[in-house]
Amino acid sequence: MNITIVGTGYVGLVTGTTLAEMGNSVYCVDIDEKKVEGMKQGIVPIYEPNLEEMFLRNIQANRLFFTTNLKEALDKSEVIYLALPTPPGEDGSADLSYVLKVAGDIGAMMTEYKVVVNKSTVPVGTADKVRETIAAKTDIPFDVVSNPEFLREGFAVEDSMNPARVVVGASSQKARDIMADIYQPFTNTGVPIIFMDEKSSELTKYAANSFLAVKITFMNEIANYCEKVGADVDKVRLGMGSDDRIGHRFLFPGIGYGGSCFPKDVKALIKSGKQEDFNFKILEATESVNQQQKVILVSEIEKYFDGILTGKKIAVWGLAFKANTDDIREASSLDNIKILLEKGAEIVAYDAIAEENVRKILGDKISYAKDMYSALDGADCLFIATEWPEFKNPNFKMMAERMNHRAIFDGRNMFPLELPESNGFFYKSIGRRTVK
Ligand code: UDX
Repeated sequence: MNITIVGTGYVGLVTGTTLAEMGNSVYCVDIDEKKVEGMKQGIVPIYEPNLEEMFLRNIQANRLFFTTNLKEALDKSEVIYLALPTPPGEDGSADLSYVLKVAGDIGAMMTEYKVVVNKSTVPVGTADKVRETIAAKTDIPFDVVSNPEFLREGFAVEDSMNPARVVVGASSQKARDIMADIYQPFTNTGVPIIFMDEKSSELTKYAANSFLAVKITFMNEIANYCEKVGADVDKVRLGMGSDDRIGHRFLFPGIGYGGSCFPKDVKALIKSGKQEDFNFKILEATESVNQQQKVILVSEIEKYFDGILTGKKIAVWGLAFKANTDDIREASSLDNIKILLEKGAEIVAYDAIAEENVRKILGDKISYAKDMYSALDGADCLFIATEWPEFKNPNFKMMAERMNHRAIFDGRNMFPLELPESNGFFYKSIGRRTVK
């Protein structure tokens, strides 16, 4: 099949590449000429494990094309995916201007039947708006489908190739059949394709992400309570997760959720609710607990230094909002660094993958270490903000030799307590006994 993808961000690029991998001819459209030129030359604009290899393979096989010309791509394809940004507006609601602009262009340019597939996370009712926008420009028949994306950053290729489910909101049988054809190679392994109406499909995405944000936040509150009563959240987590109604995943406490999806989607669902006079009380609580959780270790660091952070050198391991990505959107590391700088601390950070993005925001307000150990030279404490695998089993002896104080504030519960303990470290993690 010939498919057009409009928007080559995370979702568009990964969707386009995996659809090409399944044998389709995929035309990726973006307004950013520099990006399109780069992609034509084989430059992948994002970091995502295994993406580059698949991307290059499909360019070479003549199945993956890039253009700034929407009309050219549109004429070649029956199916057009919209993978455009829907950033939160000032009031938290999703900004649909990019989606509706392209919908209008499609309406004005199309010359035969098209299926317009919305992949972006959009508020309930957006399919109707897209439909109205296109219909205002053409009399040619078309269908609008909602097909939310559930991929995780860092596992984007894996999740797209092996989805847990495919959700398709479509009211026309013709569009359902076309979508079933596209996803047949993904679903013939037993993965369900779940058809529903467009509104339910749009809400499924928000409900899934918000539920996971609530799950993490619930666990963060349990962790905080564990510290009050002397329980160990790692044990509680295992005990709870073994009930398969709960499950082990997304029960890891830490310094809050971040990234480009959870914070944005929780906000947007709260906002959509308000427009219908509906209060998502559980999401409002989630948002405020998460905001506190992100910086929960700052007061612990202050306590450790008797309230004085001026001139203290703090090493930060990890800047990305989670491991295996260079994405720093809503990263807890940034909230913490901002406060620590305000309180007069000096920051030396290490993150091999996300450093470049942080430099664009913080510049030389902090310094950057070349490796995890040199970040520790003369440091008064270590703060762990991202769970990169390379931090999992460090050489504690080497760390002790390099640091001024043997003190670790771990926002990701990276070590069993015995490890820092047997090496003489002060160790404060989340929801567990403080090792002194
Ligand atoms: C998420 C959803 O998982 C995905 O389905 C959706 O399409 C987009 O949003 P992503 O933002 O890539 O994906 O990150 P995810 O791996 O879900 O983690 C989100 C945040 O939660 C991260 O900050 C992570 O560190 C945090 N998290 C996750 C926890 O604090 N504890 C956990 O147990 C799991």
